[in-house]
Amino acid sequence: SELKLWGGRFTGKTDPLMDWYNASLPFDQKMYNADLDNSKYYTEGLLKAGLLSQDELSEIHRGLEVIRGEWASGSFVEKDGDEDIHTANERRLGEIIGRHIAGKVHTGRSRNDQVATDMRIYCREALEDMGKILCDLIRAILQRAETEIDVLMPGYTHLQRAQPIRWSHWLNLYASYFTEDFKRLQQIKERLNLSPLGCGALAGHPYGIDREYIAGKLGFDGCIGNSLQAVSDRDFVVEILFWCSLFMNHVSRFSEDLIIYSTAEFGFVKLSDAYSTGSSLMPQKKNPDSLELLRGKSGRVFGSLSGFMMSLKSIPSTYNKDMQEDKEPLFDALVTVEHSILIATGVISTLAINKEKMFNALTMDMLATDLADYLVRKGVPFRETHHISGEAVSKAEKLNLSGIDKLTVEQYKEIDSRFNSDVVDVFDFEASVERRTATGGTAKSAVLKQIETLKKQILKI
Ligand code: ARG
Repeated sequence: SELKLWGGRFTGKTDPLMDWYNASLPFDQKMYNADLDNSKYYTEGLLKAGLLSQDELSEIHRGLEVIRGEWASGSFVEKDGDEDIHTANERRLGEIIGRHIAGKVHTGRSRNDQVATDMRIYCREALEDMGKILCDLIRAILQRAETEIDVLMPGYTHLQRAQPIRWSHWLNLYASYFTEDFKRLQQIKERLNLSPLGCGALAGHPYGIDREYIAGKLGFDGCIGNSLQAVSDRDFVVEILFWCSLFMNHVSRFSEDLIIYSTAEFGFVKLSDAYSTGSSLMPQKKNPDSLELLRGKSGRVFGSLSGFMMSLKSIPSTYNKDMQEDKEPLFDALVTVEHSILIATGVISTLAINKEKMFNALTMDMLATDLADYLVRKGVPFRETHHISGEAVSKAEKLNLSGIDKLTVEQYKEIDSRFNSDVVDVFDFEASVERRTATGGTAKSAVLKQIETLKKQILKI
């Protein structure tokens, strides 16, 4: 226990399995930059409070940069007793600049406010990077929506053919989900950007340190106002895990649509070889594994959210070691989402569509609502026209006709005298789509407007 930073009061050795069980260095070393920045600016605060000399500060800063270089190049040598990234960096700093000066860095700081601060810095940067690749995904979708604006396809409810829509309208659906995700990400980033540093283990700082000054240097918007909360709070981790889960929920639905559209029965889209795999037995198979993994990994991310909430729910106030369990689910979710965004971007940018199949899947019964609307335009109440249009559907069926467009004008007049020869204008898919001009609709003008609106909400690159 001599090796251990907290070893002073201990006489017995810890069990080796306990050392391993307790350690977080294998997974928290990815926060090395945040931890070094933490010490860099915390010591500036110590200087300001008269607890360090300028020479000592310079030595500390020199040592921290040596350590940063070691982590970056992969040459940092881990030693027994390096429990986590905080103890590893502190031990190494002592070796580089001498224990006398290095030993002053932790004055008034606890690993409790230290780890809470590192996590917020790490998360802030991870979300920043996530936002950028998410905007690339949105741009890739909007790009297709623009170039393939003329393609029509069936829109579905209950997976039953419902009404004709533009393929771009379907694309915009997911561009909209992902844009909301992007906006939500910014809000979480803003909310978490407060500094816990300078709260010590739980009770606050005894040397009148200027927390706001340190927070500003670390790029925070302010300080957490209660020292107990500063070390207790991991709600930002929960929020990020929720964000990841909801995003994966959207990705999963997006994938599910495309899996269905890529079956031979639909044949609307064809996945590029780059994102498909074959079967070890059936030579003809081309499977949408990328989409299935996007769908499947959503389960894993939801698991991280619910698992960590379980860990958190009964922890007494302030720091308890359970809180170290925030890291693995968070890091795993962040990596999974990052890869999922990149794969989804690849899939959507390389997908081939079959316009003819999409158009040929449109059937005249999908214009039954438009037929009802035709009479509405002649002043008939919708409830009545709905009924009349239903009669036309059933009459066409009874006469064994291929669709409601095959009934003659006379047959229409038999159903209702308010039908005229202009009823034939109803049976046009393009015209049906083009009537939906109101905001949010599937007419070309409305779809283009949605694309413009979405573009304005994402990063401009
Ligand atoms: N590795 C720890 C964690 O991730 C750092 C905080 C340790 N604090 C303590 N009081 N043991 O939570």
